[in-house]
Order: sequence, then structure tokens, then C-alpha cells
Amino acid sequence: MALQAAALVPSTFSVPKEGKSGASFKDSSLFGVSLSDHIKADFTSSASRCKREFNHRIGAVRAQTTATATPAITRSTVDGKKTLRKGSVIITGASSGLGLATAKALAETGKWHVIMACRDFLKAERAAKSAGMSKENYTIMHLDLASLDSVRQFVDSYKRSGRPLDVLVCNAAVYQPTAKEPTFTAEGFELSVGTNHLGHFLLSRLLLDDLKQSDYPSKRLIIVGSITGNTNTLAGNVPPKANLGDLRGLAGGLNGLNSSAMIDGGDFDGAKAYKDSKVCNMLTMQEFHRRFHEETGITFASLYPGCIATTGLFREHIPLFRLLFPPFQKYITKGFVSEEEAGKRLAQVVSDPSLTKSGVYWSWNKDSASFENQLSQEASDQDKARKIWELSEKLVGLA
Ligand SMILES: NC(=O)c1ccc[n+]([C@@H]2O[C@H](COP(=O)([O-])OP(=O)(O)OC[C@H]3O[C@@H](n4cnc5c(N)ncnc54)[C@H](OP(=O)(O)O)[C@@H]3O)[C@@H](O)[C@H]2O)c1
Repeated sequence: MALQAAALVPSTFSVPKEGKSGASFKDSSLFGVSLSDHIKADFTSSASRCKREFNHRIGAVRAQTTATATPAITRSTVDGKKTLRKGSVIITGASSGLGLATAKALAETGKWHVIMACRDFLKAERAAKSAGMSKENYTIMHLDLASLDSVRQFVDSYKRSGRPLDVLVCNAAVYQPTAKEPTFTAEGFELSVGTNHLGHFLLSRLLLDDLKQSDYPSKRLIIVGSITGNTNTLAGNVPPKANLGDLRGLAGGLNGLNSSAMIDGGDFDGAKAYKDSKVCNMLTMQEFHRRFHEETGITFASLYPGCIATTGLFREHIPLFRLLFPPFQKYITKGFVSEEEAGKRLAQVVSDPSLTKSGVYWSWNKDSASFENQLSQEASDQDKARKIWELSEKLVGLA
């Protein structure tokens, strides 16, 4: 009942960083093309790439993976001028909620090809259809973040597709507020941290080179955060609070056997595990920024999209909570954000030319204006970020 309690309290303590006009903004929610040179490539090369891509998909790729798209590159046929190609963006967990709304918002601009990286192929296909997304604007690929093998297979399939990667959005998450006992990923990590943090950590690391190679004007890696992991907010202060402690559980592998299933080594608490995983997401974004921004030019960002009280994130909550939460957010706290609005916000972080600053945690005020928000002490602890990076590398087999 922890996040539920957090959900009932407005988070009025978020303070934007200095230097922004929104110095008095309060987060009233509750939770928390270079002009592409390679377009010069002749049509033959573009066509053969499509053919290669098609062959890969028909053959090697797992059954759940499919291609629904035409090539991502557009060319000017008028006067030979370079034109902007479509951006390629991978969004994890695009089968519902924020991920789906973002996929829709980007796809309908006609400027983006969205790779919906989802664990349930059919659900994703139905979701894309019911959102009215047109087939040439998206591709669904199978990805189960609770299995590192699946992450590696996804990355292999993506690389073999020959499609460029311009933006990666780590959005998928599980939240188990009522779980009495921990459940585990394929490799035996507690499910929330294993999926939300470790799965995304491996995915981002393996796709970093592809992002580096992108010739898109602004390449970005976005990891969705949450207010609930930030104890500098009222919502983030409702027990159980996020707290990674000295990381002894993470160091032990989060397996509940020879180590605790919790990062801090404490007793299992599903709501806290989710909040802890969100702290890891926000720290990982900053560590990426410190290690790679200058060298690669990639923009690393995180965000709190607002309280999207209607999404599947709350599916494991008690029915009464699910019934009361959306109207409570809408009419009492006024912290409610629709899936559509939240999708536009994340789409902004993906594509808005004014949001290229790296290392930033974005939030929106009640007029839906973006501002750089401040992270809690723990969620901006550089030493912890480095340690989590190093421990995570070991756990996912990168070190
Ligand atoms: N809702 C909010 O108020 C809120 C507030 C702050 C931050 N957020 C963040 O927003 C993001 C999206 O959440 P949401 O509210 O949109 O929830 P959601 O509707 O439940 O979406 C979560 C997505 O993650 C996918 N997913 C779960 N486990 C996965 C796995 N093992 N492999 C691949 N995909 C998996 C789900 O797939 P299935 O469809 O197959 O289940 C679903 O598509 C999360 O990072 C969450 O922390 C949400």
C-alpha cells in the first residue's frame, strides 16, 4: 500500500534547477537529421538494404518478431536536394500506457519510424491498430526485458535489420505493490529491478554503438524515471521510500538465496523495489551522460511524465485503488495527466529540438511547460551511480 499512499499526496516539493524561468513551478503530480548524407546513397543500396532486412526477418528472427514497415528513409524526388530521413526510435513497452501514447504521437508526425519493443507481440499489434497507427510508421519486435537472452536476441535482430538507431527510449516497467514474495527474472534477479533497471541497462549498453553511429541531428537515449524514486518530493517521502543503501543486495545478485532480493539488502517490498528501480534508472542516465555525452554527442535524459493514473502500471493494485485513483487524481489533487498528454511529453523529449540538453531530468508544470527538475540526493549521487554501473555490468555479463 505504499505507492498508493504516495499517490494520494501531491508532490509539491519539486524544485526546478536555477536558470530556468520556471523557478516557481511546482510539480503538482503525484508520482511520481543531419541532413542525412547517406540519403545520397543510390536507390539500389536502399533497396538492397530492405531486401537484407526482409530476409533476416523471414529467416532468423524469432517467431514473434515481424516487420510491418517500409524503409525508414525518404528521399527528395523533386530537385535532388537532401531531405530529412525518418528518425528511427525504439520504445520499450510500447504495447500500452505511456509507451503506446508516445509511439502514436511520434508515428503520426510521419517523421518517425517507431520500433515497438514488446514482450507480447499480439497485444502490441492490437494496440497499434486501435491507436490508429499506420503500418508504414511502425515495426513490432519481440523483447522481454526480464530475460537477458531476449535482450541480446533483440539487439542482434535489430543490428541485422540494418536500420539506423537515432533514439532509444527505455520505458517499460513492472510494478508489484501487493506482492508478498519476490518473483524473479530468467536469470534470477528480483523482477522489478531485473526488468526496469538491469534489462534496460544491458539493452542500452549493447545499442550504444548504434546510437553513436547515427547521423541524425540529435541522437538520444531516454530512460523514464519517476517522482516516486525522488525523496525530495512529498510523494517520494511516503513509505516505503526508495533507498539503495550500500547496494549489498545488488552486489549479491538480488536472488533471494545468498542475498536479499532488495538492493539495500532489506526485506522484500514490491512497492519499494519499483521505486529503487526508478532510482537506478535515473542514476544510470546520469552515469551514461558523464561517461559518453562529450565523446559521442548523444543526449541522455530522464523524465517524470506526470501521474498517468489510468495505465496498466497499476494492474496489480487492489481493485478499490484502481477504481478511486484516477478520479482522485483528476478532481482532488488535480495531478492527473492523460496518457495522450504524457505521450506528447515523452515524444517531446524524443524529438523537440529545444530539449537537447544532456543529463537532464525533465518534468512539466501545470501548464504543460517542460522544466529541468531536481533529483533527490540519492538519485543524483555520483558515487552510487558509478557503483551501480559497475555492479550492473557484472550482473548482466558485461564485465
Ligand atoms: N503511470 C504513471 O503514473 C507513471 C508515473 C511515472 C513514471 N511512469 C513510468 O512510465 C513507464 C511506463 O509505464 P506505464 O504507466 O505506461 O505502464 P504500463 O501501461 O503498464 O506500461 C508498461 C509497459 O512495460 C511493458 N513491460 C512490462 N514488463 C516487460 C518485460 N519484461 N519486457 C518488455 N516489456 C515489458 C508492458 O508490457 P505488457 O503490455 O506486455 O504488459 C507495458 O507495455 C514506466 O517506466 C513507469 O515507471 C509511469
